Amino acid sequence: MTAFTVNGREVRFEGEARTHLADFLREDMGLTATHLGCEHGVCGACTLVKDGKPVRSCITYAAACEGAEIRTLEDFRDDPLMARLRAAFKEHHGLQCGFCTPGMLATGYDIVTRLPDADEARIREELSGNLCRCTGYMGIVAAISAVLAEGPHERPGLPARAPQIGAADFGRPAAVPPVAASASAPAASRPAPLTDGVTIARAARIGLPATDVWAVLSDLRQVAACLPGASVERIEGEAVEGAFAARIGPMTAKFRGTAFVSYDAAAMSGSVAGAGGDQGSRSAAQGEIGFSLAPQGEAACELRCRIAYRLTGPLAQVGRPAIVEGIVDRMLQDFTANVGAAARGEAPAETAAPGIAGLILAALRNIFARNGKRGDPS
Ligand code: FES
Ligand code: FES
Repeated sequence: MTAFTVNGREVRFEGEARTHLADFLREDMGLTATHLGCEHGVCGACTLVKDGKPVRSCITYAAACEGAEIRTLEDFRDDPLMARLRAAFKEHHGLQCGFCTPGMLATGYDIVTRLPDADEARIREELSGNLCRCTGYMGIVAAISAVLAEGPHERPGLPARAPQIGAADFGRPAAVPPVAASASAPAASRPAPLTDGVTIARAARIGLPATDVWAVLSDLRQVAACLPGASVERIEGEAVEGAFAARIGPMTAKFRGTAFVSYDAAAMSGSVAGAGGDQGSRSAAQGEIGFSLAPQGEAACELRCRIAYRLTGPLAQVGRPAIVEGIVDRMLQDFTANVGAAARGEAPAETAAPGIAGLILAALRNIFARNGKRGDPS
């Protein structure tokens, strides 16, 4: 666990070690003023303030921020000097699309407080790590020069903070409490059955004996590996904590949550019920998947599934049933191909991030797998 402050708020990070600070801020905390461009430390769009200095949050690991004080542009909302810089950017046409602007403002703020005598050449040198794809450098330099000319500017102290009650945990499923240590009594409760929402039924033929496919389908981690966009973080009994990346229309979401999985090995069938949330879009998903495997002779089988889901929040406006059905069809195609590969002992193919039903489908894939075997999907 890593503890630090973000805009004066104490947070505890428990996510993957490779999570960079910008992803953590945007996806887990919903602080989207920090932009991401190259994600390689080149463009400067992700610049924010760490311990009083501008840093690139795309190459700063969240797990390496122990004890750090992070400030994003959101924290400068009421800062008089930042307000003056924003006004100067507007007056001098220092932004066009605005994509680079958060990073430019963070760097500009550092320049006007640290280098009171900076001339145009020095400003350009200091800005050399911030790229503007609209090439609006003349306006940006003019804006910073104008604010410098009004100085010298003291670096203001930190804004007054409201008292806090404890730290907030991040890097765990947001919508549902963590799974308890006891496998039989997970802290996250199984969601109530869906009484409304959208239902999709599909079947896909797999050119493998049903017993081979079933062996794959009973390993949750292997199933997750077969379903594009899904990851399993923790398994406790029937409860699976994980995440599911989904592109729904023009929006991308990352649902985190818990799914409950049950199997009937004799009938080669099972079910998944789960719920999760996407902090970035403030949307939630609940879903159920019933699935069964029907032998088709000795060398093939049919995977049948019924998916019911309900989306709430902004994503529900673009996640119309027709869009979701298209996503489900593509996912099922990728999933069955990957299950076949897994049964042959091969790595799943690289596939595009899938779509909706978020956690639901994530759970679906989770359902399948355990013991890779041989076969040939079709
Ligand atoms: S996104 Fe961080 S430097 Fe480009
Ligand atoms: S204003 Fe468009 S990238 Fe700078």
